Amino acid sequence: MMLLQGKHILSVDQLNLTQIRSLFSTAEKLESVAKGRVTTHLLDGAILANMFFEASTRTRMSFHSAFARLGGDICDTTGFSFSSISKGESLADTARVISEYADVIVMRHPDQGAVADFAKHASIPVINGGDGPGEHPTQALLDLYTIRREFQKSGQSVHGSTIAMTGDLKNGRTVHSLAKLLSLFDNLTFHFVSPNALPMPAYIIEKIQQAGHQVKIFTQPETGIAGADVIYCTRIQQERLGTDNLGGHSNDLFSINQPLIERYAKPETLILHPLPRDTRQGAFDLSTDLDNDSRLKIFTQAANGIPVRMALFIHCLGLESGVGKDFQPAAWAESKS
Ligand code: NCD
Repeated sequence: MMLLQGKHILSVDQLNLTQIRSLFSTAEKLESVAKGRVTTHLLDGAILANMFFEASTRTRMSFHSAFARLGGDICDTTGFSFSSISKGESLADTARVISEYADVIVMRHPDQGAVADFAKHASIPVINGGDGPGEHPTQALLDLYTIRREFQKSGQSVHGSTIAMTGDLKNGRTVHSLAKLLSLFDNLTFHFVSPNALPMPAYIIEKIQQAGHQVKIFTQPETGIAGADVIYCTRIQQERLGTDNLGGHSNDLFSINQPLIERYAKPETLILHPLPRDTRQGAFDLSTDLDNDSRLKIFTQAANGIPVRMALFIHCLGLESGVGKDFQPAAWAESKS
């Protein structure tokens, strides 16, 4: 079943549970390739165009690493100042040109909807690596992959679970995509925990409620994280605050730290974060005092980005039936621990 072959991946709205289960099954088959223990030539000769017009470490490098581990090559451009867009070139022209240079495109852009506009003019699959405050579908997929895998260890199901999302729910695109993706499951309870000035957008809350889930809104983390099976923390998106005056709401800002988790979180709660977290003094984010807490899964989550992004490439290029057929142990990897 080639469910995503030739398709753009622009929003989680286009995905259903059958496609997601199929993607995750491919991702699991690719775990050993993702870790570098096994090699494959599935993408020999294929080229990824990695186009990032907004800051990124994980997303850009994990897409690159995923494509390279599958045997493909990567060409990339980073930032507007080094691209011909700074000379006045339109996204439409860029899309037509890059479609001749590569086989798949990943794009991150600061404007909501810009990646979808670009994709209209591209003749090869375009994957949204984040469009301003809009969406981040591949992050949501790797978040869900992490939740499912971690839940499976304790026999828990995503259906019926309680998910708390904390931080800047207004400007953070990861929580927009993840909330919508999770609403494909049944009977969830969402706790949206944010400062008053940074609430989850109404259109997302409506969509979740229409899908039959419960939504509870909190401004206090103490009550917001209580009872949650997952606490998904996010950073204040300083670069997108615009006219939001946080000065007037400084009493509202909070960090998720060890005393709070000790007192109010369940013993088996998963603590997630898309990263980067803001570890500067005085930042309101997930605190580093939880780094030795076994409930913290943020680095497993980031590592899961590789097999999930590999699976996306494989499915967009219609290669799922070939996965595993040419796997060879990586000779050099024997020197790894
Ligand atoms: C996120 C993003 O870019 O939206 N980072 C990521 O891709 N892992 C979250 C953020 O920047 O806060």
